[in-house]
Amino acid sequence: MEIRFEATGAPKAKPEWNNLGFGHYYTDHMFLLDYTEGRGWHDARLVPYAPLALDPAAMVLHYGMEVFEGMKAYFAPDGRVLLFRPQENARRLNCSADRICLPLLPEEIFIAAVSALVRVDRDWIPRLPGTSLYIRPYIIADEPHLGVRPPRRCKFIVICSPVGAYYPEGLNPVRIYVEDEYVRSVVGGTGHTKCGGNYAASLIAQKKAEQLGFTQVLWLDGVEHSYIEEVGTMNIMLRLGEEIVTPALDGSILPGITRSSALELLRSWGYKVSERKISVDELFQAAKAGALGEAFGTGTAAVVSPIGTFSIYGELLTVADGGIGPVAQKLFDALTGLQWGKLPDPFGWTYEVKIQAALNPEESRPALILS
Ligand code: COI
Repeated sequence: MEIRFEATGAPKAKPEWNNLGFGHYYTDHMFLLDYTEGRGWHDARLVPYAPLALDPAAMVLHYGMEVFEGMKAYFAPDGRVLLFRPQENARRLNCSADRICLPLLPEEIFIAAVSALVRVDRDWIPRLPGTSLYIRPYIIADEPHLGVRPPRRCKFIVICSPVGAYYPEGLNPVRIYVEDEYVRSVVGGTGHTKCGGNYAASLIAQKKAEQLGFTQVLWLDGVEHSYIEEVGTMNIMLRLGEEIVTPALDGSILPGITRSSALELLRSWGYKVSERKISVDELFQAAKAGALGEAFGTGTAAVVSPIGTFSIYGELLTVADGGIGPVAQKLFDALTGLQWGKLPDPFGWTYEVKIQAALNPEESRPALILS
């Protein structure tokens, strides 16, 4: 793939690295690629970050035809720039796109696009502990058309944002409200995909939880309202005795890449791990009986986020002593150690974005022919 590069004439001031928050700042460039039915994907370009020109009839604006991914780039202590399992993001984007009838994107184009943008905007990768460059690849239907049918014109876009912790709590335990009125998804719906609509539909419950003093909601299944599914932006894991349990991927839960990495790590450490149905009753009883050793969420944005308190059936239940449990801490250390290139990577999960290999000797910026 050849990528046209238009460098920004007005590089932006960098943010204060120790106060990034999540999703407030955007780098100097963005990646764009067009899709037209009959022609396929074409016109790859890296251009200055700027508002998009969209026809007011663009299908994405009316019918939510959008899917996205979340991933991060990290600076390793030896200067390498690393991504974490980008092939998994490429695959999941296609799974999401397939579900809502957007065109599939070849995985090698996804990785080349992400790598190219990270390479060009590498000065934006923060280096302080707990910070990284969040990458948001997404596909939108930009065809102007008001009929409801799969779009014939789309765009694949990648933007990047230097970030700190997703939750202001950082690695401190969050408070979770078990939501028994609204549902996120049902089997056969879109819960297993990252489509924008899933997140829009979650806001009312999120707002309610915040008003009640909680960080996020824990969703229950959409049919019986009896089984726990996932937390707002994370998958959930519980430690019951020495066993780690997590809801099985039944079609309504997002197949988190951090989730699957955490499960592999836990299994490699000898933990018994079960992916199964977990009723909210089981969670309630375990928490009341003191059998719930730990609860935590996993996700790209949040990494590992311990849960200190649940509100279930109107009762407030503290998980163990309300602090960070040893498994959550061990997972956090292992995942971030791998992601930041500080620990050996026996799984082959890290992917190096080659900076030097792509440098054009004439310039300080990368060459634009990418394989
Ligand atoms: C991620 O963890 O990357 C997510 O997609 C959560 C996001 C909606 C902030």
